[in-house]
Amino acid sequence: MGDLKTALSDRAGAVEDILQTLLPSGNGPESRLFDAMRYSTMAGGKRLRPFLLVSAADLFAVPRRSSLRAAAAVEMLHTYSLVHDDLPCMDDDDLRRGQPTAHVKFDEATAVLAGDSLLTMAFEVLSDPETDPNPAVRIDLVSGLAKAAGAQGMCGGQMIDLLAENDEPDREAVERLQALKTGALITFSCEAGAILGHGSPEERRALRTYGDKLGLAFQIADDLLDAEGSAEDMGKAVGKDRDAGKATMVGLLGVENAREEAERLIADAVLQLDLFGENAMLLREVATFAIRRRT
Ligand code: IPE
Ligand code: IPE
Ligand code: MG
Ligand code: MG
Ligand code: MG
Repeated sequence: MGDLKTALSDRAGAVEDILQTLLPSGNGPESRLFDAMRYSTMAGGKRLRPFLLVSAADLFAVPRRSSLRAAAAVEMLHTYSLVHDDLPCMDDDDLRRGQPTAHVKFDEATAVLAGDSLLTMAFEVLSDPETDPNPAVRIDLVSGLAKAAGAQGMCGGQMIDLLAENDEPDREAVERLQALKTGALITFSCEAGAILGHGSPEERRALRTYGDKLGLAFQIADDLLDAEGSAEDMGKAVGKDRDAGKATMVGLLGVENAREEAERLIADAVLQLDLFGENAMLLREVATFAIRRRT
């Protein structure tokens, strides 16, 4: 696990360097928007999705300058999702990544615009030839991220998540909600490595399935930490899902069964990596980290 820790922190640092250079800055009248984008993006966070993307791309020896730019795009999109998820009209949270949420630090309109701009910028970065010289690869990335983030991916999941506050969905429905709101972007992060690396259909499928299972387990871990973790470790409020009546696997199965389900999913996820042999060691280790983490 020592290697994993070092790799997590090295890659987080590398993607943060790229984010620093990509995010806009300036002194014009719109600089408040730039400040809000930087504030939310540079506040920290585990940078798990960038780690998955870079590690998957490493399986195919993709140059780091490509995989880190794609990883930065995914992190921008993820940060937008958090900024909007925290808005008063959504989960109404005041703390994120250990700091006041964007709408608290700035104001609601600025937070909405910062989210919009991060979302849009993700596609600007992916479509830039600097990310990959091959236009077919860039189109594949743009299309994959659009599907993962949109109405039939993350946004659809967020819609169901809000509707389900007043509902008692069954297990299948909760799995679908979590696969959409969280799984889709995690799956894309893994698949993007194979897109950049011109992986075979089999390799691409294996990384997708790994991502699907990891994504579900990751959201179960988030729900477990909401039930049992500390706000100090998490950098966000805990104990909110039950109060808000959120549909979670923890609410549905109880803490113990939810934890077992997450373990099962991770064991399944790791099996998908057999195809890549020893090279996939970090992806195996990060799968366990995804459910044993405290943050
Ligand atoms: C939080 O994601 C939202 C979920 C999908 C559970 P992360 O737990 O990856 O948040 P950061 O990026 O580390 O802050
Ligand atoms: C968020 O799920 C999923 C997103 C797409 C942002 P949560 O609402 O559980 O995430 P946290 O707990 O606020 O980070
Ligand atoms: Mg939410
Ligand atoms: Mg939330
Ligand atoms: Mg949560």
